[in-house]
Amino acid sequence: MGHSSASASIHHVSLIILSGILSLETIKLGLCSDDHNVGCIDIERKALLKLKQGLMDPSGRLSSWVGEDCCKWSGVGCNNITGRVNRLDLRNHYWFDYYGPTEHALIGEINPSLLVLKDLVYLDLSMNYFGGVFPSCIASLEKLKYLDLSGSSFVGVIPPNLGNLSRLFYLDLNLGILETDLQWLATLSFLKYLNLGGVNLTKTTSYWLPAINMLPSLVELHLPSCSLSIFPLTLSSINFTSLLVLDLSGNKFTSTVPPWLFNLTKLENLDLSYNSLTGKLPDSLGYLKSLRYLNLSDNSLEGPIPKSIGNLTSLDGIIPESLGELSSLVSLDIFGNKWGGAITEAHFAKLGGLRKVLIGNYPRNISFSLVFNISSDWVPPFKLRYLEIRSCQLGPKFPTWLRNQTELTTVVLLNARISGTIPDWFLQLDLQLDELSLADNQLSGRVPNSLRFSYDSLVDLSSNCYEGPLPLWSSNISRLYLRDNRFSWPILHNIGQVMPNLTQLDISTNSLSGSIPLFLGNLSQLQVILISNNLLSGEIPHFWNNIPSLVSIDLSNNSLSGTIPRSLGSLTSLQFLSLSSNNFSGEFPSLKNCTYLNILDLADNKFSGPILASIEESMPNLQILSLRSNSFTGSIPLNLCGLSAFHILDFSHNNLSGNIPHCIGNLSYLKSEATFIGNYANFGRFELVSKGRVYVYDYGAILSLVTSIDLSDNKLSGEIPMGLTSLIKLGTLNLSMNHLTGNIPANIGNLESIETLDLSLNKLSGSIPQSMVNLTFLNHLNLSYNNLSGTIPTSNQFQTFVDPSIYEGNPGLSWCPLPTGCQDNEEAPQVPSGDGEEDDGSKLEKLQFIISMVIGFCAGFWGVFGTLAMKGSWRHSYFHFIDKVKDAVLDFFPAIGTYLQKRL
Ligand SMILES: *[C@@H]1O[C@H](CO)[C@@H](O)[C@H](O)[C@H]1NC(C)=O
Ligand SMILES: *[C@@H]1O[C@H](CO)[C@@H](O)[C@H](O)[C@H]1NC(C)=O
Ligand SMILES: *[C@@H]1O[C@H](CO)[C@@H](O)[C@H](O)[C@H]1NC(C)=O
Ligand SMILES: *[C@@H]1O[C@H](CO)[C@@H](O)[C@H](O)[C@H]1NC(C)=O
Ligand SMILES: *[C@@H]1O[C@H](CO)[C@@H](O)[C@H](O)[C@H]1NC(C)=O
Ligand SMILES: *[C@@H]1O[C@H](CO)[C@@H](O)[C@H](O)[C@H]1NC(C)=O
Ligand SMILES: *[C@@H]1O[C@H](CO)[C@@H](O)[C@H](O)[C@H]1NC(C)=O
Ligand SMILES: *[C@@H]1O[C@H](CO)[C@@H](O)[C@H](O)[C@H]1NC(C)=O
Repeated sequence: MGHSSASASIHHVSLIILSGILSLETIKLGLCSDDHNVGCIDIERKALLKLKQGLMDPSGRLSSWVGEDCCKWSGVGCNNITGRVNRLDLRNHYWFDYYGPTEHALIGEINPSLLVLKDLVYLDLSMNYFGGVFPSCIASLEKLKYLDLSGSSFVGVIPPNLGNLSRLFYLDLNLGILETDLQWLATLSFLKYLNLGGVNLTKTTSYWLPAINMLPSLVELHLPSCSLSIFPLTLSSINFTSLLVLDLSGNKFTSTVPPWLFNLTKLENLDLSYNSLTGKLPDSLGYLKSLRYLNLSDNSLEGPIPKSIGNLTSLDGIIPESLGELSSLVSLDIFGNKWGGAITEAHFAKLGGLRKVLIGNYPRNISFSLVFNISSDWVPPFKLRYLEIRSCQLGPKFPTWLRNQTELTTVVLLNARISGTIPDWFLQLDLQLDELSLADNQLSGRVPNSLRFSYDSLVDLSSNCYEGPLPLWSSNISRLYLRDNRFSWPILHNIGQVMPNLTQLDISTNSLSGSIPLFLGNLSQLQVILISNNLLSGEIPHFWNNIPSLVSIDLSNNSLSGTIPRSLGSLTSLQFLSLSSNNFSGEFPSLKNCTYLNILDLADNKFSGPILASIEESMPNLQILSLRSNSFTGSIPLNLCGLSAFHILDFSHNNLSGNIPHCIGNLSYLKSEATFIGNYANFGRFELVSKGRVYVYDYGAILSLVTSIDLSDNKLSGEIPMGLTSLIKLGTLNLSMNHLTGNIPANIGNLESIETLDLSLNKLSGSIPQSMVNLTFLNHLNLSYNNLSGTIPTSNQFQTFVDPSIYEGNPGLSWCPLPTGCQDNEEAPQVPSGDGEEDDGSKLEKLQFIISMVIGFCAGFWGVFGTLAMKGSWRHSYFHFIDKVKDAVLDFFPAIGTYLQKRL
């Protein structure tokens, strides 16, 4: 069978899948028409018409209520076997619409004919203008599970016989002008959702809580504005422990917050606003660990905000202005919550003793839900030493209320939407700062040279719009981050003399030009130097000779050229070295003394010669080695296999020859089931090619979860070593564009983590191993241009691999759409060809096959989609965050937790 007919048969199968979906549609229509025969029961149709007659319908929402089959009327649903109406949904979805409520509301009274619909399970009449007395007849619809009459302006008393609706799990009577006792609730033990907003519960005020406590399934309880005046302080035991939402706002409570509330540890949403709650907030607030929304505004709470509020890590609430009353407050630390709303002068009104303020959130890219709304002439009552505000809307101007803050030592205004320049008055405060972090703003112009810093200080002006030469402040600074600005001059030669105590220097992602000065060597304390993404050119001088403590060097993405001085190998503390995307050439010197090295990235240069042979014995910590796109020759050194932490190996696009070593299966990190989170004490970024895309990773714990072996586009020959299939943690395997021969290893299905598998453009023969259908994470497969033969598997993930190009160029490979009858046939694909030629038996067989195919397709689709969805959180993480490890640690750990949890 030729290549063209193979792809032709594949097209044919795609067509069958399509027609399969059509067939299913037909089947479904068929069932519906059976349904139609069951029909709508005449008395129910008449009852609905009576209901319609009693209503004004200005927007014609009930215009489809004509004809015999009431099951097809809009808002009406029927049981598909009995034909009886079981669902009536007349909710006015336009309530909040521009046009206002009356346009689309149904107006009038509920006709008791509704009672005829005895099988109703779902009844939603909400947001209409049904006036009058509460229709007590509804209590006879005993099968109701869902009842929503909210916004219906009924008046009078909620009839106690509502207790007959013992199957209800959803009851919404919000906004009615109603009264009730709550005795009838006792029988509604399945209730999950109860909303009696606005209902006058004055009569129940002594027993409302015991009444609610009869509802063990309750998940959401809304009793806002119910005229409740007693918030019982004790409760013998709590029945509704599954409660997620509790809204008791706008009542008349005057007590303290009752302690039993803090036993509701699943609560996500707590609204106690607009009462007169008094006393202190107890420390047990910290037990409500799931809380995302907390509203305590407009109460009379006093005393300190409990420290444990810091435990409420998912909080998404409003900061009470009463905070401003805490006159003895010294430190205000409300960092790490998703606060919303505005910070005003009132929040600080009496905080004369305040010395430390910490407000905001990680990560940096969250929405700015917290806004500082403070007038430009405000003079605060406090003198701060420590100010840290992150990811809040503070700008656009540099905050003028700092004008009188003469005692500041730490100023962190990070990601605060501040633009313009640092004002002169700030410079004239003559502060001596130990930290100035103004990163992630839109500050522009030149950096003022007159700032003063204390010993061992940190300056972070990353991600702003500063231009001109790099600023040089005298002496004391130890960490200087100027990354991602528009600094454009050459690196000044006296940098080493002016700031001799620098330990970390990040000037990456600017427009610095010229060459790297040898004088950089005067920075003898330097541990981290990141100069990537600039316009630097020329050869690199051996500036490191006097800097023995260098740990991280990133010179990637410049136009540097020449050979690498051998003395680089003397940096025995080196952990991270990236020289990628430059024009370096020649042989790469031995790094066998760099025993701590864990990342080496030489990609996209012109290095030649053999790969360093002494890897194993000298670099036991090596985790990532990228030699991509160079001219390395020779074979893959065997010592590689002994690297116990190795998890990313990219040798693609070189001239390597020889076999893939058998011992590659010994790479213990990729083999072990133990989860190891790499220890990267580094800064910088790493590029990885996977699935035809370049992924940029920030160094951090996430990167240690990425596992890849890419040997593509070399001259490797021999067979794919069997041992490779024991690397169960491998995510990407790319062996394409080599001269590999032999079979795909039969147990390749052991690679249970594999997502990308590219074996294309080799000389592999034999069949696609059946075990490959076990690769449930696989979403990128390419087997094209080999000598594979036999049939393409059709189960599991293979249902999604329908793109013919991933199989093309394998003359012996066929797609077998009919497993029966093709089993022993190696050539002709048994694609159903005749129209109307088959007998009924084979038609049936075909139909069954098509159905299972479509189901398989869906299952496969969700497999892939599920993988992507599940990993969304950490993908998001590593694309967006971090240029400082401090942030990285805080941001990544929750993400990894989620990832691992889901993966296990
Ligand atoms: C009939 O309705 C039941 C319950 O709603 C549903 O589970 C079932 O799938 C339906 N049957 C058909 C053939 O649509
Ligand atoms: C609630 O009902 C009580 C009588 O039961 C009445 O005195 C009170 O005014 C009502 N409250 C409201 C807000 O209508
Ligand atoms: C908890 O709910 C059950 C079922 O409604 C009820 O029998 C029991 O009395 C309730 N417990 C309390 C303490 O109210
Ligand atoms: C609340 O929890 C505490 C212990 O965690 C327990 O002693 C107490 O009885 C609980 N209260 C209620 C009302 O369940
Ligand atoms: C808050 O978290 C800390 C540390 O996990 C813990 O020791 C403390 O008991 C928690 N406080 C509350 C009220 O949960
Ligand atoms: C605040 O500083 C301004 C000058 O910047 C000064 O005129 C004013 O008196 C100061 N106010 C206080 C309360 O220190
Ligand atoms: C640099 O640091 C050393 C201590 O490591 C200190 O003695 C020296 O004064 C510092 N130099 C300057 C200029 O700050
Ligand atoms: C590596 O260390 C050995 C022994 O300390 C030394 O002789 C050799 O010169 C070092 N190599 C380099 C490249 O620094």
